[in-house]
Amino acid sequence: MSESDFLKFPSDFVWGSATAAYQIEGGWNAEGKGESIWDRFSSNPRNIEDKQPGTVTCDHFHRNVEDTALMASLGLKNYRMSLSWPRILPLGTGKVNEAGLAYYDREIDGLLAQGITPWVTLFHWDLPQALQDQGGWANRATVDAYTAYVDVVTRRLGDRVKNWMTHNEPWVYAFCGHQFGAHAPGLKDLKTTLAVAHHLLLSHGRAVPVIRANVPGARVGIVHNLEWIEPASDREEDIAAAQRHDGAYNRWFLDATIKGRYPGDLAAWYGPDLLPEIRRDDMETIAVPTDFLGVNYYTRRLIAHDPAGRGTEGRSFLAVQQIYRPFVPRGHFDEWEMQPEGLFKLLIRLKKDYGDFPIYISENGTSLPDAPGADGQVHDGIRIRYLARHVAAIHEARRENVDVRGYFVWSLMDNYEWGFGFTKRFGIVHVDYTTQKRTVKDSGRWYAGVIGHQGFPVAEANDYTTY
Ligand code: FCB
Repeated sequence: MSESDFLKFPSDFVWGSATAAYQIEGGWNAEGKGESIWDRFSSNPRNIEDKQPGTVTCDHFHRNVEDTALMASLGLKNYRMSLSWPRILPLGTGKVNEAGLAYYDREIDGLLAQGITPWVTLFHWDLPQALQDQGGWANRATVDAYTAYVDVVTRRLGDRVKNWMTHNEPWVYAFCGHQFGAHAPGLKDLKTTLAVAHHLLLSHGRAVPVIRANVPGARVGIVHNLEWIEPASDREEDIAAAQRHDGAYNRWFLDATIKGRYPGDLAAWYGPDLLPEIRRDDMETIAVPTDFLGVNYYTRRLIAHDPAGRGTEGRSFLAVQQIYRPFVPRGHFDEWEMQPEGLFKLLIRLKKDYGDFPIYISENGTSLPDAPGADGQVHDGIRIRYLARHVAAIHEARRENVDVRGYFVWSLMDNYEWGFGFTKRFGIVHVDYTTQKRTVKDSGRWYAGVIGHQGFPVAEANDYTTY
């Protein structure tokens, strides 16, 4: 097969899969774990699409040995996981729950024993409820609580875990939880949202030196969810709307962590009453140098001007609306277009606007209504093409000298999709939530092949001959 027919990656390219503690662990009150805001939020059926709480989810807390073996059987060499803060510090600060730390000790040792490198996210949204009771991330004191928590875990795991991610998607945590009311803690207030975002970013800046001090050879980064955003037309008001959306969604977070400032156009749009209190040195702290950027990419968004902000997630505060084109495919996660070209363009844009630094695609994947067929297997050819095209986009961006060093598929297995409960399946492994049976999907076998061969035939990205 010629070079142009086979998309080859270098042997040090990182291939992995990703999960988050709350979405898979269960054991919500096992062995001294404290309550998280997600335990509280999901216990109210009104908050969750299928009304199911996240108490058990994939029961990974009790099945991590089996799940690690499954990963090893697929040849996965890297695993992005998160730690549950309330499992380690049940009240968020103060007394450490030794059983919680011991659990992660065992999990990390198990991964390393199978030759799997852990990539640990320190905060993937499950804040201890006790801290929420004191205002959560809107309270600046939570920055200190987080830094102390990071100190505890990096001291304990830092001899074995070298790759650390401070935060997962500050935009989603801040906006979905505090502006749209769709995630825990279920608030709807823009001023609170912007304070939460600022404190998350500040805590990132504070945590990086703590991690470096505790972990010899640490590699540290933050994970942003980035979208490729385009105006729905060449009308000036749509162009301005797309710029606002890009400002609120991408630039607010990228500019802060990379350039040490919030974008002026958006700061002016929000206005002084809504902006968070920014103390002297905050921005410098936030822009601490890191070793890599984690990028979660799921979709492109076409944006039009709309004073009422109709459509999903009530974006009236930005006066924008999302437009869907009937000829662009979407997955089962209705709002998200399948748009691999957006990933390519986003990566080129990152290099152009923010410079050269190592990038890992820390999440990418699609939800489909998968179920085992008569043969007991899960034939998810659509997911194979989705993944193949996005990996192909990375391959092309690398040819344009964007320094993408790795790819983590979301997700290792079907799991609890936050406010959507169990209704969305993103895994390359199917989970039957009644029996907890795991079944490797066709996409899981395909991905194992990609890892084994460090690439795949380009035809697999464009195969329209299977469903
Ligand atoms: C991302 C989250 C991840 C999962 C995927 C589908 O925003 O980081 O936990 O929910 O979306």
